[in-house]
Amino acid sequence: MKARDVTDFAHIGPDTLAGKFLRRFWQPIFVGADLKKGRPVRVHVLNEYFTLYRGDSGAPFTVEDRCPHRQTSLALGNVDGDGIRCFYHGWLFNGQGQCIEQPAEKASFAKKVQARAYPTEEYLGLIFVYFGEGDAPPLPRFPEMENVEGTLVVNRHMVPCNYFQRVENDLDESHVHFVHRVSTDSYGLDELPDIHVTETDYGILRIGEREGGGANATRTAHWMMPNANFLDLPPSPGHPHWTVYLAYRVPVDDETMMTLAVSIRPIDPSGAKQTQRPKMDPDPNFLTEEILAGRMYLQDVDPKYPGLFVVQDNVALAGQGRIVDRSRDRLGQSDKGVILLRKLWERELKKIRDDKPIKNWRRPKEKLHLLVDRPKLLEEI
Ligand code: FES
Ligand SMILES: [Fe+2]
Repeated sequence: MKARDVTDFAHIGPDTLAGKFLRRFWQPIFVGADLKKGRPVRVHVLNEYFTLYRGDSGAPFTVEDRCPHRQTSLALGNVDGDGIRCFYHGWLFNGQGQCIEQPAEKASFAKKVQARAYPTEEYLGLIFVYFGEGDAPPLPRFPEMENVEGTLVVNRHMVPCNYFQRVENDLDESHVHFVHRVSTDSYGLDELPDIHVTETDYGILRIGEREGGGANATRTAHWMMPNANFLDLPPSPGHPHWTVYLAYRVPVDDETMMTLAVSIRPIDPSGAKQTQRPKMDPDPNFLTEEILAGRMYLQDVDPKYPGLFVVQDNVALAGQGRIVDRSRDRLGQSDKGVILLRKLWERELKKIRDDKPIKNWRRPKEKLHLLVDRPKLLEEI
């Protein structure tokens, strides 16, 4: 890896080009409901550690993980108002990272001590943080997911490979017909799409054109720079409906990533409100590892297992290795999305390398169009 290599999208530490690029955008790092008042957490993201906590006011805060005094993790500390008090010697930092108390210092120099704090916002059940330099841009909003009929279901799961493999998979509609064939066969999605991709203000519009009716509808997906995918997701085990789905592929380190996703689920007729996807048993990554180690076959996973989609994708993605030498790929016309994705990333990384402004990536304020003829499709399948 060369730090100035504009084709290296995989390494994402703070000094890499891809790491600098990703840090120019808000990233979700945690599920809001899992962040309890008085229970700080140490979050591993973008190859760094951060302390995330919920203040007494209910607002979330993110600060650098190492206390500026003698560098123990602030996640071990105690929430005090909207600040955090270090466990080791009791220094107190407010929500903006300013030190305001040093109980063991006879002459306090708190004013001179600043922990780095990061803009943090809670939205759609996820906690988003801006890790970049300078003022944070506005957090992108998704009116398609606000005030919806139905329930927002939030989910976070780990994927045992580099995040860019997962991002590329979002531009690859053809894989659905192979990796998820058990599911697609069951509801009749059997026509391979003609892939059309176009650069947009927000990223890439991907259209999978199909001529058939019913489940073989033309699908539209909005892939958003640098690492989010917004689309309709086909039915999966335990979820018989198409669902609007927003997923961020966030690097944990260079060899592991997490998906943080929100989907709209129809209201349960029983009135039960489910806001987080239930924990899957067995864990999808246990099955992924068993399959990759040759101790079991994907075909032997119960087709009704709710984590089937995750295991299927994880096997295909981690089966490439944890980080891939992409120069060995042999791409075809069905990889148009991946080709455009790499082109845009390379273009942006070049600008970062040359200290030039990157494109002002932004989604429109209006709702984006999703599946063509959606109500009709729902009737037909
Ligand atoms: S290390 Fe945090 S107060 Fe000493
Ligand atoms: Fe998939």
